[in-house]
Amino acid sequence: MKIKFLLILTSLFFCLNSCSKDDNEVAATLEAPIANAPKEVVDNGFRAKWNYVSNSKSYLLDVSTNENFTSFVSGYESKPVTDLNEVVVGLTAGTQYFYRVRAKNETEISGYSNVISVVTTGLSGIPEDPTFLKVKANKVANPFFVGMAVKAAQLTSGSGYDIILKNEFSSISAEYEMKMDPISTASGVYNWAAADKIVAYGNANGINVHGHALVWHNAVPNWLKDFSGTDAEFALEVKKYITDVVTHYAGKVKSWDVVNEAADDNGGNMRNTIFLQRMGPNYIKDCFQWARDAANAAGDTSLLLFYNDYATSTNIPKQDRVFTIVDDLKASNLIDGIGFQMHNTYLSPTKAQIETDLNRAVTKGLKIHISELDIQVNQSNDISTFTNERRLAQKEKYKEIVKIYNALPAANKYALTVWGMKDNESWIPYSTELNHVGNDWPLLYDSNFAVKSSHTGFLEGLD
Ligand code: G3I
Repeated sequence: MKIKFLLILTSLFFCLNSCSKDDNEVAATLEAPIANAPKEVVDNGFRAKWNYVSNSKSYLLDVSTNENFTSFVSGYESKPVTDLNEVVVGLTAGTQYFYRVRAKNETEISGYSNVISVVTTGLSGIPEDPTFLKVKANKVANPFFVGMAVKAAQLTSGSGYDIILKNEFSSISAEYEMKMDPISTASGVYNWAAADKIVAYGNANGINVHGHALVWHNAVPNWLKDFSGTDAEFALEVKKYITDVVTHYAGKVKSWDVVNEAADDNGGNMRNTIFLQRMGPNYIKDCFQWARDAANAAGDTSLLLFYNDYATSTNIPKQDRVFTIVDDLKASNLIDGIGFQMHNTYLSPTKAQIETDLNRAVTKGLKIHISELDIQVNQSNDISTFTNERRLAQKEKYKEIVKIYNALPAANKYALTVWGMKDNESWIPYSTELNHVGNDWPLLYDSNFAVKSSHTGFLEGLD
């Protein structure tokens, strides 16, 4: 009996001991790695990097063309890697990729690391000149698209536009031809030609396409302005338009300005547009919902939806209104980013005003698109030629805003788009909309496609 008792006691001791030992020896939960900025970014790949995780034996690497990882680059879905880095190859030039990593040991797989975005460099064969804007932008710690507003007629092979776009830009927006008035000629009748040419050009050359803009009060076709149906029927026309356009470009256009300029300039009210008048105060959310539903129905689950507006850095009531609109959209999980047009001058907004404005978007976890950057140097029409003093002031202002943008957290970066290529083709000189009675030189290239000091300022902003 005594022996039996001792045996029970001993086995009990070992059990407790092994349990307590097991308790003590159970490996700490495997922590998720921290993914680092890529190195050796080239036109067909990059070196993905991450930190060591204690108790790990290897890592699992995912690479995707969308940050939700709904699809994977062939060979890079949970790819086992023993080192703390992996050279990813076989990629497309000028394309944005995302990577993340997990740690692994005999018994555990950790959670996912943070996601790193990287844009492969230009098409092989085109010189990777360090003075090309996108070449330098692709090499910063957290790369972003360098965008240009374009017109379909500019995109002829070998044109000055074509050469500069392929060398220097990784994103394009249609300055006019992807708006409602040029596309929609009657209810359900669409003229896709110019917009298709712009989208096809981007897709063929590994250049991101940002859609501008589905709903804008300054781009309402006459047939819709004069629409004689009921308000409910008017809303159905807008829904049909959004659905048809987003579906037509699903998988080809990466992001859309769903609604443009819905906040007014006086007192931060909603702008009294035909959309507000006929669809009511919920029209913005309706438009975003219709865009999201159309994209999802077309299988484009990575489409980014933006709200786009101007002058929010200097007009605080308007800035407040925009962020009220944004908060309402965020509450319904309908918005991915904000477009800050940034039609600036060499004097305004100040650095502090811009940073305050953008940081409100950072705190909301939204992507930030500086969507229509140009910098006037003659807004008061006090010069008749592009003086040296204004040239240098403009250079510093471009450098300042590029520096501000490049300093944003990786998760908030998307694109910085300049609103036109050559000074003489900018919407600004002699603009009646701006009541700008004189000439101006707001862009990065002169009328001969020659780079200006503003282009140098852009490059210096990337240092
Ligand atoms: O292409 C037609 C041409 O066939 C026709 O003969 C001619 C005369 O009517 O018009 C031409 O279209 C013009 C188009 O620019 C050509 O690029 C439109 O009339 C003209 O209204 C249009 O202006 C554009 C404007 O938006 C209105 O859509 C400007 O280029 C463009 O820079 C400007 O951009 C806006 C952004 O979308 C929103 N933020 C403000 C910014 C400046 O207004």
